[in-house]
Amino acid sequence: MVKKRVFVVGATGYIGKFVVRELVARGYDVVSFARERSGIGKSTTAEELRSQLKGSEVRFGDVSNMESLMKNGIRGEHFAVVVSCLTSRNGGVKDSWKIDYQATRNALDAGKASGATHFVLLSAICVQKPLLEFQRAKLQFEKELKESGLIWSIVRPTAFFKSIAGQVASVKSGKPYVMFGDGRLTACKPISEPDLARYMANCLEEPDMQNKILPIGGPGKAITPLEQGEMLFELLGRPPKFKKMPIQMFDIIIPILSLLAKLFPKLEDKAEFARIGKYYCSESMLVLNPKTGNYDADMTPSYGSDTLRDFYKRVLQEGLAGQELGEHSMF
Ligand SMILES: NC(=O)c1ccc[n+]([C@@H]2O[C@H](COP(=O)([O-])OP(=O)(O)OC[C@H]3O[C@@H](n4cnc5c(N)ncnc54)[C@H](OP(=O)(O)O)[C@@H]3O)[C@@H](O)[C@H]2O)c1
Repeated sequence: MVKKRVFVVGATGYIGKFVVRELVARGYDVVSFARERSGIGKSTTAEELRSQLKGSEVRFGDVSNMESLMKNGIRGEHFAVVVSCLTSRNGGVKDSWKIDYQATRNALDAGKASGATHFVLLSAICVQKPLLEFQRAKLQFEKELKESGLIWSIVRPTAFFKSIAGQVASVKSGKPYVMFGDGRLTACKPISEPDLARYMANCLEEPDMQNKILPIGGPGKAITPLEQGEMLFELLGRPPKFKKMPIQMFDIIIPILSLLAKLFPKLEDKAEFARIGKYYCSESMLVLNPKTGNYDADMTPSYGSDTLRDFYKRVLQEGLAGQELGEHSMF
């Protein structure tokens, strides 16, 4: 049987790498399109990447440039499916439009030209309440994808483990767990990289995951920052120690940075990062119930078997390798 050809952009990211490996394991003929130097801080060489994405053919070029994408990526060949795990590495205003919108749009156009009939997009659950520029850029692309004539699958995950692992090292070293308000302002159902990769690969095979928006979280009940902190202390065998921060601090920082950004446009991204910080400290990564207008854990589907508890246990023993946030770490 001829293997289905899949073209993956964003193949070098936290989720992208797992998606490539999952597709290869399922027998797809995978081409990964990447930059010569990739990863956080451009730390991965072409050779290292080939070994990380073994089983897929790695092609190098610039996804932001249509000519490069067609010449170095598609190379006049046929692909059946395009999968995008692209996102801006910093969440800045211009970079979000460049990557989450334009580069992803380029991948759609290139895929169409290559004969692809299906586009699987890794998006984010938070676009359901768009207050940030990267969310608007993602939504614009989602809209154009739905109008493209291709079969589409829009996967909107809740939180990744890396996004709630930032305090493991400091808590382990004896510092308190820092949270906003009483630690119950938000909740999420975190999902692991392998579980999400399996879910995304299922989109290629299951017709009921096509032409659908697919919000998805990990297994178990929704968990608040307070519960995340309690879990960490319990695993360490220590009494919990919390530091509570007022969420109102953002209402001072954001207007000051927004005003400064008007005077000094170079500060535009700093103001956006403060808005992103507030968003994640005040909005849950769960499905918004349209009837109540509230976040609803029961309406948020779960998938997979990797639990946050096992993840915390592992990183407390083995460290956080592979869970770095890179430029996202400022929020
Ligand atoms: N963090 C969370 O908790 C969370 C929750 C739900 C949804 N999401 C969404 O999940 C998606 C994937 O996230 P992730 O953490 O896997 O992303 P990531 O690790 O930051 O990876 C981003 C990918 O995009 C590529 N990219 C970025 N800028 C580029 C540029 N200028 N030119 C070419 N390629 C570029 C990167 O390539 P390089 O390696 O070359 O930089 C990398 O392959 C995003 O849409 C994100 O919004 C995240």
